[in-house]
Amino acid sequence: MFVTMAVDHLLTSFILLLICNTGFSAEISVFVKTGDSVQLDIQTQELSEFYMLSWFKDKSQIIVSYMHESRTVRLHPSYKDRVDFSDKTFSLTLKNMQKTDTGLYTAITRGESENNIVTYRVSVIGFSAEISVFVKTGDSVQLDIQTQKLPEFDLLSWTNDKLENIVKYIHESKKVKLHSSYKDRVDFNDETFSLTLKNMQKTDTGLYTARTRGESENNIVTYRVSVIDAVDAPVLTVNSHWSSSDSCTVNFTCRAHDLMINSNYQNNRCSPQEVTSQINTLILDCSKEAIICNYSNPVSWQKDLINIRQLCGGFSAEISVFVKTGDSVQLDIQTQELSEFDDLSWRNDKSENIVKYIHESKKVRLHSSYKDRVDFNNKTFSLTLKNMQKTDTGLYTAITHGESENNIAIYRVSVIGES
Ligand SMILES: *[C@@H]1O[C@H](CO)[C@@H](O)[C@H](O)[C@H]1NC(C)=O
Ligand SMILES: *[C@@H]1O[C@H](CO)[C@@H](O)[C@H](O)[C@H]1NC(C)=O
Ligand SMILES: *[C@@H]1O[C@H](CO)[C@@H](O)[C@H](O)[C@H]1NC(C)=O
Repeated sequence: MFVTMAVDHLLTSFILLLICNTGFSAEISVFVKTGDSVQLDIQTQELSEFYMLSWFKDKSQIIVSYMHESRTVRLHPSYKDRVDFSDKTFSLTLKNMQKTDTGLYTAITRGESENNIVTYRVSVIGFSAEISVFVKTGDSVQLDIQTQKLPEFDLLSWTNDKLENIVKYIHESKKVKLHSSYKDRVDFNDETFSLTLKNMQKTDTGLYTARTRGESENNIVTYRVSVIDAVDAPVLTVNSHWSSSDSCTVNFTCRAHDLMINSNYQNNRCSPQEVTSQINTLILDCSKEAIICNYSNPVSWQKDLINIRQLCGGFSAEISVFVKTGDSVQLDIQTQELSEFDDLSWRNDKSENIVKYIHESKKVRLHSSYKDRVDFNNKTFSLTLKNMQKTDTGLYTAITHGESENNIAIYRVSVIGES
């Protein structure tokens, strides 16, 4: 699962002043976005004499008290790390506001009489963030409520963007009700309230929202879920290559859907490149051994590579062979006189040894993924590949190891046509 936080900057907190002259004090409406801060000012220059000034939440919960004479400030422990109080302006700043902080905030002075200085009606709105999640087709995704403290509620639900209640949880009875169309493919955790959607399909792409209903209705979290396929493998092709005893130059192209990189390999390197298209990225990298092309999206990646040693390994007569899908092809070594060797192998361009023949023991070892579809002739050393598929397109090289390493045949096999 790949997660990015997409905070909507257009929805930053705003303060709406609705000053209603109720005779005693104005009630000021303030809207704050979840996670944001809000500063509450006392809205007056002239305070009558007092010995104590306090800010209350909902008229009962004390947040901060200021003793005038000693200039001491006392914060309620539950607000300790998330409020600032100015002992000069007496304003209160509440930080990292959550839905549960919605309510009335009042500043009161005590002196000869008690005075209500100002009252704010603070509403915490919106989503803290819409969370983007990418899921691979067929995979599961777990959606968490992303908060430790939920407001009191009677009912908690997860809904999709057709406003279907995927799951409803009744707080009192602890009953869980699943929507009929989701019955067999969701898990709901009645302790953490997280929802797991299984076997996701492209049609499941959309918004998923957790809400609670109690005295008021609250959106807890919203996910934007995108269900996408794994990428196909990119294809690296050699346009031309030229090698001498001390250098090798390869002009090649890497393609993946609408992305393409055309470049040159020279002096054991190429300039790394990266191209992107929407959520897809194609990256080119080279080393002494290989040219590597990596195609990825948020849920997967695949690579193709060209083995430089095989391509530039001295023996450069490359033989092109075209094979029809489903057919067999026999690859012969292109020499009558083999110099002495310890072992002989046929390799594909992923550097897998399809077959390895040990001269002394005359043992033949086949690569597991080729076991049932190759024949190796232990007299002529030719290799027969059977039932060829498009994915078998590539370079096949015969190599001997002995006092030195020798390429004894290089085939560029292209599998063509429909099966
Ligand atoms: C690779 O070769 C093609 C023509 O064969 C040429 O147009 C292209 O510029 C070459 N690429 C680079 C990166 O030199
Ligand atoms: C290919 O790219 C993906 C995504 O950037 C990365 O996770 C992966 O390790 C890369 N693979 C290789 C072989 O470089
Ligand atoms: C080749 O393989 C056959 C059958 O596996 C075996 O009988 C024969 O001895 C082998 N020949 C050599 C030269 O290794």
